[in-house]
Amino acid sequence: MADEDYHEIFENFERKNGFSAVPEVVSDVLFTLDSDRASLGEIAEIIKRDPGLSANIMKYANSGAYLLSKSLSSVDQAIRVIGMKPLKGLCLAIPVFERYGHVAGVRETWLHSRATSMACSILAKAIKFPEPDVAETAGLLHDIGKLVLAVATAKFFQSQIMIADSRDRDADWRQEKRLLGFNHCFIGAWFARKFNLPQILIEGILWHHEFEKSSYGRDLACLTFIGDQMAVAVGKEHPDFVFVEPGIVRALNHLRIDDRLLREVLTECLGRVARMAA
Ligand SMILES: [Fe+2]
Ligand SMILES: [Fe+2]
Repeated sequence: MADEDYHEIFENFERKNGFSAVPEVVSDVLFTLDSDRASLGEIAEIIKRDPGLSANIMKYANSGAYLLSKSLSSVDQAIRVIGMKPLKGLCLAIPVFERYGHVAGVRETWLHSRATSMACSILAKAIKFPEPDVAETAGLLHDIGKLVLAVATAKFFQSQIMIADSRDRDADWRQEKRLLGFNHCFIGAWFARKFNLPQILIEGILWHHEFEKSSYGRDLACLTFIGDQMAVAVGKEHPDFVFVEPGIVRALNHLRIDDRLLREVLTECLGRVARMAA
């Protein structure tokens, strides 16, 4: 596929209001977060202007993503638990996944993304990854490119959903590259760049299926891939590809995760996913 073809896909997506449709409140949150002098209180006040976003953020914080002793009853409490760094990814992801929730495969991709974010956060803690917040956000946004495919190339995406569990097919990202000329990782990186996300996060999203190609954020890309595969292993698979990839062995070796540690993180992930509200 030629360059102009995928530009056309992006434009087609934007024409349907795409990411530009994020509520004004989200733009204000992003602007304030980017200003480097934002406080959690200030962010909470902005979020409260949008009752839908407020309710969704509270729902997310209460839905098993975090270990809580009791449920949270205010936006202030919820964003304190979530923390400043993951908030940007969350404020971007929630409205777009919500907006396109009716499109085939989007709801399943959201559940998979939430499970991946949780798995990345558990894994980051277990291996003492220096930036656990970034790992959590990378997990949440790693497949945002699939949302664009689901909306802008609905026919293609639905054809992939139909063969999600067929044994003799390529992995989703390989298949996309072969048939479209680019894949959801590439689109995800475009999204991350568009919203001025940190370079390490762009790399983590771009290379989450090919971590060896990342020179700047290889460990994050690798961790994101393992989190993605853990989500598949505990039953929150992709709507368009349901298998664990053989590349998981190389990724586990790269981060020196042995069988015992893998069992531990998978067990915790399974418990947390079971508590995750649909
Ligand atoms: Fe992916
Ligand atoms: Fe994924």
